[in-house]
Amino acid sequence: MQLAVVGTGYVGLVAGAGFAEFGNDVTCVDVSEAKIAMLKRGEVPIYEPGLEELIAKNVRDDRLKFSTDVAGAIRGAEVVFIAVGTPSADDGSADLSAVFAVAETIAKNMDSYKVVATKSTVPVGTADKIQAILRANTTQAFGVASNPEFLKEGDAVNDFMKPDRVIIGSDDARAREVLRHLYNPFVRASDRIHLMDPRSAELSKYAANCMLATRISFMNDLAMLAEKLGADIDVVRKATGADVRIGSKFLFPGPGFGGSCFPKDLAALVYTAKVSGHPLAIVEAAQEINARQKHVLGQKVLAYFQSKRAEGEREEGAADEGRGPLAGKTVALWGLSFKPRTDDIRESPALTLIEDLLAAGATVQAHDPQAMSAVRAIYGSRVMMSDNMYGAAEGADALVLVTEWHEYRRPDFKRLLRIMNAPALFDGRNMWEPDELRGLGFSYKGIGRP
Ligand code: UDX
Repeated sequence: MQLAVVGTGYVGLVAGAGFAEFGNDVTCVDVSEAKIAMLKRGEVPIYEPGLEELIAKNVRDDRLKFSTDVAGAIRGAEVVFIAVGTPSADDGSADLSAVFAVAETIAKNMDSYKVVATKSTVPVGTADKIQAILRANTTQAFGVASNPEFLKEGDAVNDFMKPDRVIIGSDDARAREVLRHLYNPFVRASDRIHLMDPRSAELSKYAANCMLATRISFMNDLAMLAEKLGADIDVVRKATGADVRIGSKFLFPGPGFGGSCFPKDLAALVYTAKVSGHPLAIVEAAQEINARQKHVLGQKVLAYFQSKRAEGEREEGAADEGRGPLAGKTVALWGLSFKPRTDDIRESPALTLIEDLLAAGATVQAHDPQAMSAVRAIYGSRVMMSDNMYGAAEGADALVLVTEWHEYRRPDFKRLLRIMNAPALFDGRNMWEPDELRGLGFSYKGIGRP
């Protein structure tokens, strides 16, 4: 099948490469000349495991092309996927100007029947608006569909190639058939394809992300309660997840969720719900809990040094009180991206922690396997970066594990004892064994653990 994918962000690139891998002829287009030039040189603008190789292979086999000629790609295509950005406006609503601009371009280049499918996450009712734009600008027959994408960063290629489900929302019988045919090779069991109307398809995507984010906020809230009650959230998590109706995935408490999807999608659904006259109290609570949770690590670090001070420890920092309660203290961060296996720092809890630490006067040293340059671009020399995870911990008075990259899971703790100034560990992902670490002489604080 001849396909055009408009927008070469996460979703567009992964989808384009994935469709090509299954034998389709795909042109990925973008208005950004710089991005397309990069892709043509074989460079991938984002770090996503397996993506560069997948793109290179399909470019070599001539199934995948990159171009800035949006009109040309549309004209040749049987299906056009809209995968452009839908950033949050100030009120939380999704800004759809790029989506509608693409719809207009599609209409103007409609030389034969085409399926126009949205892959970007768009508010309920967007398919109807796209339908209206197309109708107003072409006499050609077409079919509009909502085909939301569920890939996760860090595992995007895998998710795309082996989806849990494919959602096809369209009122046009031909569009449903075309898309079903396109996706059949991706799903071994055809019951993984869910055919429905466009509004339900659009809402299904928000439902999934809001449900997942709510689960995390619920666990984060419960973790804070567990601390007050002297219970251990880690065993509570396992015991709770053992109920098959609940399931064990996505129950991990931590420093709050980040990324490009959850925060944006929650805000968009909360906005839609309010405007529709049915506010979603649960999703609003999930947002509030997350906003609070992102400060938990910073608060724990602060509380630790304050209690040390109260214990009467003599410290040079006391003289620096005017510069903030953590003046004279060096705090090391492991992990800056919002999750492992990505260089994406959008809405990352690490950024909130950096803000809180700098505001308290601390010196911040950090390491991340992929995201250091993105953080450097924001903070410059205000955050010291080390290419080596132990280098970041050198001379630190505390070390905070923020993102659970593999390399941080079993570090050389004895080495940390030698190189750190004070043995204080803050485990934002409950990765480490408290008893083992206390046995080694560390002070250990996790999330929701006694
Ligand atoms: C999410 C959805 O999973 C995906 O289906 C959708 O298409 C896009 O949004 P993504 O944002 O890439 O994907 O990452 P995900 O793995 O879902 O993690 C989101 C955030 O939740 C991260 O900050 C992560 O650290 C946090 N999280 C996840 C937890 O704090 N606890 C968990 O148990 C799981």
